[in-house]
Amino acid sequence: MNVSWNCIDKHLESSADKTAIIFEGEQGDTRHISYQQLHDDVCQFANGLKARGVSKGDRVIIYMPMTPEAVIAMQACARIGAIHSVVFGGFSADSLRDRIEDASAVMLITADGGHRGGKIVELKSAADKALSSGCESIKDVVVLKRSGHEIDMKDGRDHWWHDVIEGQATSCEPEWVDSEHPLFLLYTSGSTGKPKGIQHSSAGYLLNAVVTNLWVFDLQDDDIFWCTADVGWITGHTYVAYGPLAAGTTTVIYEGGPVTPDAGRFWKICEDHKVSVFYTAPTAIRALMKFGDEFPNKYDLSSIRLLGTVGEPINPEAWMWYHSVIGKERCPIVDTWWQTETGANMIAPIPGVTATKPGSCTRALPGIEADVVNEDGDSITEANKGGYLVIRKPWPSMLRTIWGDDQRYVDTYFPKFDGRFYLAGDSARKDADGYFWIMGRIDDVVNISGHRLGTMEVESALVAHDRVVEAAVVSRPHEVKGEAIVAFVICKGERPVQDEAESMVKELREWVGEQIGPIAKPDDIRFADGLPKTRSGKIMRRLLRTIARGEEITQDTSTLENEAVVLQLQGKE
Ligand code: PRX
Repeated sequence: MNVSWNCIDKHLESSADKTAIIFEGEQGDTRHISYQQLHDDVCQFANGLKARGVSKGDRVIIYMPMTPEAVIAMQACARIGAIHSVVFGGFSADSLRDRIEDASAVMLITADGGHRGGKIVELKSAADKALSSGCESIKDVVVLKRSGHEIDMKDGRDHWWHDVIEGQATSCEPEWVDSEHPLFLLYTSGSTGKPKGIQHSSAGYLLNAVVTNLWVFDLQDDDIFWCTADVGWITGHTYVAYGPLAAGTTTVIYEGGPVTPDAGRFWKICEDHKVSVFYTAPTAIRALMKFGDEFPNKYDLSSIRLLGTVGEPINPEAWMWYHSVIGKERCPIVDTWWQTETGANMIAPIPGVTATKPGSCTRALPGIEADVVNEDGDSITEANKGGYLVIRKPWPSMLRTIWGDDQRYVDTYFPKFDGRFYLAGDSARKDADGYFWIMGRIDDVVNISGHRLGTMEVESALVAHDRVVEAAVVSRPHEVKGEAIVAFVICKGERPVQDEAESMVKELREWVGEQIGPIAKPDDIRFADGLPKTRSGKIMRRLLRTIARGEEITQDTSTLENEAVVLQLQGKE
C-alpha cells in the first residue's frame, strides 16, 4: 500500500476537481488546491526529493510554517516511502538539532520564515543554528520561500523549494510499501529529559485516521473541516495532513495566530470558508472566550454543525461558551481523548449516537478496549473511583516502538501489570454510565496550552545554565493555559535576591526558550538555598506543588534538613 495514494490518487477518478485544501495565510492570502493539483504538487516534490537522493526508509525532518507545502512535504515523503518527522516551528534550534540527530535524518525541509502573531518566525536561521552544532547526517536543506525576507543560503547544502521542483514531472509512481512500513516519527515528551521518537506504521495508522474522521467528525461529502492544530503535533497529522484527505474531504489550513489582527480571526475564517466541522483545543477556547462574545457574534457561524476539542480536559465554563456562543446550542461537541502514541481518537463520542456530558470524553470507540484499573491491574467497577487508564488490546494505529529504542518502548508503556495492558500515563475514572473522565497525568508530564512537556526536560534545560546548580519543576493550574510551569532553582554562590533575582528570572526564561522553545518558558521562577528533600535525598515534589499553588502546607516538613528553604520558596524570606 501507499499512504499518499490513499490520500490523493484514490479520489482522482471521482473528484479530481474537488477542493482538497483551503489555505489562508496570516496576512490574508488564500489558495484553494484541488485533489488534482495536490496530486501534481506532491508528485513534483516527491520527484525532487528522489532527485536529491532521498529514498525509502530515509528520515526527513520537516520544520515549516503551517502552509500547504508542509502537507505536500509530508505526503511526498509518504509517496516515496521516506519517513518524515515534523518538528513544530515553535521549537528552538537546540530541540531541532536533538531530533535531527536522534533520527539521523538525511534531509531538512524548512522555509525562510512563517507569519505568526504579526511577526516572522525565523525558521531558516534556527535551522542554520541547529546545523552548525552537529547534524552530520543532513546532506541537503530544502527551503520554501514564504516570508521573502533575507536569509543565508549555504552553497551545495541549501536549495530553494522552487528550484527542487523545477522541471520535475507531475506524476510519480508511489513506492508500494508493507503495511508495517514506518510512515513517520513524531517526537514527544515523557518522564525523562530526552523526547522520544514515536514511530507510527502506514496501514494501521491510516485506518484509524480515516475511521475516526468519518465516525467522530461525521465527515460528509460537502463538509469543510477545520482542525486548528499545527502539523507539528499529532493532531495536525491525523486531522489535517492524513485523515481528512484519506476521507476525501476539504480541509482548512491557517498559517497564523488566533488573535491576529484581533480575537475574531478564527470566527472570520469560519464565516469566509463556510467551515462546517471545527476542532480545536480547550486552551484556545479559553483564550478567545476572554475577549468576550462580541468577536464571534460579529460573524455568521451558521455553517458550523459540529464542534470538537482535544488535548486536555475541558472545564465547564469553556464548554458552555463553546456550546452557546460558537455552537448556538445546536452543535454537538465531541471531546476526544487520545495521544501522540495512539495515533487517532480513542475515547470520544460519535455524534448523534453517544449522548455527551460536558467534561467527559464519553466512551471508547468501537474496537478500542479502554479501561480503568487499580494497582493490581483489576478493572475498577465502583463508579467514580480513580485509577490507571489502560488499553487492554492493541489497535491499528498504536505506536509501533520508540525510534531506535525498543527497550524504552517496553519500559514506558508496559511497566506494570506484567505487560498485559498499554499504560496511557493518565489517571481516569468511570461514572455509573461507564463514561470516562480524564483526571490528569500520573507521570512527570505537564500540559501547557495542550502541549505536552516533561518537567525533566525543563529541569535539564535550567541546569545547563552556568549559574544553576539544581532545579525542580512542577506545575500549577492556569486560567488559560491549563497548567503553568513553576521552577525552583538553586544558583551557584549567593541566592539571588531583589534586582539580581529579577534579572536572573528574565535570563533563565530566555535561556529555557532557547533550549526548548517559547512554550517551555517557566511562568514563575523562585530561588532558594536548597530544595526541600527527604532524609533519603528525594525532592519533595508534592510539597513543591503545594508551594507553587500558593496553598497552605499540610505535609509534614519536620524531616526537612533546612526548613528555612520552604519560606524562601514561598517568597516569605
Ligand atoms: O493527558 C492526556 C491529554 O493529552 C495527553 C496526550 O498529549 P499529546 O500526546 O501531546 O496529544 C495531544 C493531542 C491528542 C493525554 O495523555 N489529553 C488529550 N486529549 C484529552 C486529554 N485530556 C483530557 N481530555 C482530552 N480530550
